[in-house]
Amino acid sequence: MRLGAAPEKGLLDSIEIASRDEIAALQTARLTRTLRRVYDNVPPMRAKFAAHGVHPDDFHTLADLAKFPFTAKADLRDNYPFGLFAVPKAQLVRLHASSGTTGKSTVVGYTKGDIATWSDVVARSIRASGGRAGMVAHIAYGYGLFTGGLGVHYGAERLGCTIVPASGGMTARQVQLIGDFAPDILMATPSYALAILDEFRAQGIDPRRTSLKLGYFGAEPWTNAMRDELERAFDIDATDNYGLSEVIGPGVACECVETKDGLHIWEDHFYPEVIDPLTGAVLPDGEMGELVFTSLTKEAMPVVRYRTRDLTRLLPGTARTMRRMEKIVGRSDDMMIVRGVNVFPTQIEEQLLKIASLSGHYEIILTRESRLDEMEVRVEARSADDFAQARDQGGALLAKAIKERIGVSAQVSVLAPSQIERSIGKAKHVIDKRPKA
Ligand code: DLL
Repeated sequence: MRLGAAPEKGLLDSIEIASRDEIAALQTARLTRTLRRVYDNVPPMRAKFAAHGVHPDDFHTLADLAKFPFTAKADLRDNYPFGLFAVPKAQLVRLHASSGTTGKSTVVGYTKGDIATWSDVVARSIRASGGRAGMVAHIAYGYGLFTGGLGVHYGAERLGCTIVPASGGMTARQVQLIGDFAPDILMATPSYALAILDEFRAQGIDPRRTSLKLGYFGAEPWTNAMRDELERAFDIDATDNYGLSEVIGPGVACECVETKDGLHIWEDHFYPEVIDPLTGAVLPDGEMGELVFTSLTKEAMPVVRYRTRDLTRLLPGTARTMRRMEKIVGRSDDMMIVRGVNVFPTQIEEQLLKIASLSGHYEIILTRESRLDEMEVRVEARSADDFAQARDQGGALLAKAIKERIGVSAQVSVLAPSQIERSIGKAKHVIDKRPKA
């Protein structure tokens, strides 16, 4: 049953619908404080400011932020584990860390005040997604060093939800818990929601007849086509939710259920810029580039101009006065260059979900034969009954769509259902077997 409704005005934080002038004044005041805090309390950042020839006193208006140096993931690694913290260790109440698949992990810390801010922004996001006090939230984001599980947990608690802290994995049990505890909201990565959906079907339970009304999805790139798929399959309203550990975790930006037109950034806590990833120049709103955030209220680990590597554009507010970011196309790291053409996995996902006999489970394998890149798209048939049709017709349709719409040739292999490994968190869609340059 769908139940996505805009919150009544009285439920909103007043800043969500404040004028642009009020928002800009708050941002200017908070940026002034953040730059000063960082300069005074984080020696590596003070050194960076000095090397860049800037001082917090050079900041007067929002445009002045462009004078300050960027922060990148490498800065967190270089100062591992606690070198970028602005408070004494005794004031930290929580640490989270990235998995560190490529080298050292990155560590982020929170004060008591940070946890309160984080809970507030996530509660605001859940409310914008249609959630309300009294609803039951089934959290299937992983709990642990990943910010997903605990981040949405504290926000859901702040909003007044009853929480089922299921975490990721043991998918058959997720289905049982959803049946027994009758949650209103499912919180998961979209790829894990798709795996839970499969499990409903495998158990012979109609996913449209559960108690679920809302999907609070995010933490990885996904398409509007995938949203339609999940909304129809579960008969829910689904929103996209964005965040990253370095900036706080989930709760940085989210879609409003009444518009589902991109993600409103909670600009009173996170100041966004979009830059040209090559030159670092700030781009005007509306232009596609790399998203950069400066935290406005964080205590333990404030970040100045943190380069997310996520590609999007800034758009004016709609359901709220705060600006939106367009759904993320992908991370610059995920961009595949196949015979000179830039391709994102989300572009492939968009095409395959247009073909009725194909499912949303896919992987892309890149190889290099005699100096030429080859791309294979492996995708599962939607059902065993459809398999012959999917293999004989769906595969050819997909190859044609990829060629025509994206401009690359792909070999499409249609597999029977359940052949592609399910992720319980963020899906890994690309397997690049090409020799490293
Ligand atoms: O994924 C925080 C999160 C948890 C967000 C739960 C939403 C829900 P990290 O593990 O640090 O934090 O990964 C951050 O994931 O830079 C993006 O590349 C990607 N990402 C996060 N949300 C989205 C989204 C959490 N809605 C990185 N769309 C980010 C696309 C997303 N990519």
